[in-house]
Amino acid sequence: MTGRRILLIIGGGIAAYKCLEFVRRAQERGFRVRAVMTRAATAFVTPLSMGAITGERVFLDLFDRDDEHDIGHIRLAREADAVVVAPATADLLAKMAGGHADDLASTVLLATDKPVLVAPAMNPQMWSHSATQRNVAQLRDDGIRFVGPNSGEMAESGESGVGRMAEPMEILEAVDGLLEGAVNDAEKSVSPLSGRRVLVTAGPTHEPIDPVRYIANRSSGKQGYAIADAASALGADVTLVSGPTTLRPPLGITTIQVESAADMLEAVSNALPVDVAIFAAAVADWRVDTASEQKIKKQSGDSPPTLSLVENPDILATIAKHEHARPGLVIGFAAETENVVAYAQAKRARKGCDWMIANDVSPATGIMGGDQNTIHVISADSVETWPQMAKNDVGKALMERVANHLAGR
Ligand code: C5P
Repeated sequence: MTGRRILLIIGGGIAAYKCLEFVRRAQERGFRVRAVMTRAATAFVTPLSMGAITGERVFLDLFDRDDEHDIGHIRLAREADAVVVAPATADLLAKMAGGHADDLASTVLLATDKPVLVAPAMNPQMWSHSATQRNVAQLRDDGIRFVGPNSGEMAESGESGVGRMAEPMEILEAVDGLLEGAVNDAEKSVSPLSGRRVLVTAGPTHEPIDPVRYIANRSSGKQGYAIADAASALGADVTLVSGPTTLRPPLGITTIQVESAADMLEAVSNALPVDVAIFAAAVADWRVDTASEQKIKKQSGDSPPTLSLVENPDILATIAKHEHARPGLVIGFAAETENVVAYAQAKRARKGCDWMIANDVSPATGIMGGDQNTIHVISADSVETWPQMAKNDVGKALMERVANHLAGR
């Protein structure tokens, strides 16, 4: 069983019910799962059902004489190959970040020497609160890995936003990534981007017209996802902020799903500070001034509605000109259909980024939505034109260039 034991720490949130499914799926993949539940968790799933499904005793109290006698919290913390916290509530994250140890769950988390993966689940307001974001940043710095939270509808309130717990299969894939990562840790510490934080935006944005209609563009997100993957493979700690795409969130990367440019700006701002920020998203330049709260009805005889557009915030320019937290290297993308290099050079200077990656997105090139890309890498004093390559290879070559730049080469 070596390499296949998970210690699952269940926090007190409605998403705790997904843990039963998580355990089943984990067992199908050959994992043995042992569970620790916080007191609050037992209000959502019973220790009896967790025990039945794990086939193991469930651990609840720090000072349970039987538990401590049989195994003890230190052994419990170390006998697993990976520790998974799901659902991780705002309170549990705060305790972890502060190093508290006043119950079995928090004590085990402090005592473990194994990789820890956290699947947060909470109300979107609680997730975006600066206290929670501070704790998340602290935990990331401490080497804790995150999966989710995803955006969607909340079970309790029907509110939507970022805060839904990742699905059991996503968590399992992240565990696989974590265990592989642990094996590769020695290599990672000499990886060129090890210890570096990289932020990548990808995909289009959707700007609502009314609850069912939106303005969008043809971006597939493939180039941004490939860059995020390549950065992670070189050892970086990557946050990917993605507009709506059909792509799967990459393994081992914190992926934040957003819809509109305003949401993307908020998620990007929350991800700072980072060492490198790469803005590959095709952000909508305009949004509808006031999106209708109700579906706009088509009445026979009426003339079509007029959409009044206002400019979206420029995310790249905002971050490139950030007073306190400008990343050391800021890279923008310029999709053009004519005068590609000249327009991109002007855009680089105007937006204040260090490099601009320019590409020709005329329909004949097939770049928008396709798998190939031909780019120019433009800095203040140079223009490099790269041959046509697969988007995955562009991602790898670009991140290698970034790593060389950071190393002063
Ligand atoms: O001005 P244009 O949209 O061509 O610039 C493209 C670059 O600017 C991309 O890196 C894109 O991600 C970024 N951008 C942005 N916010 C906007 C528009 C574009 O960050 N509102």
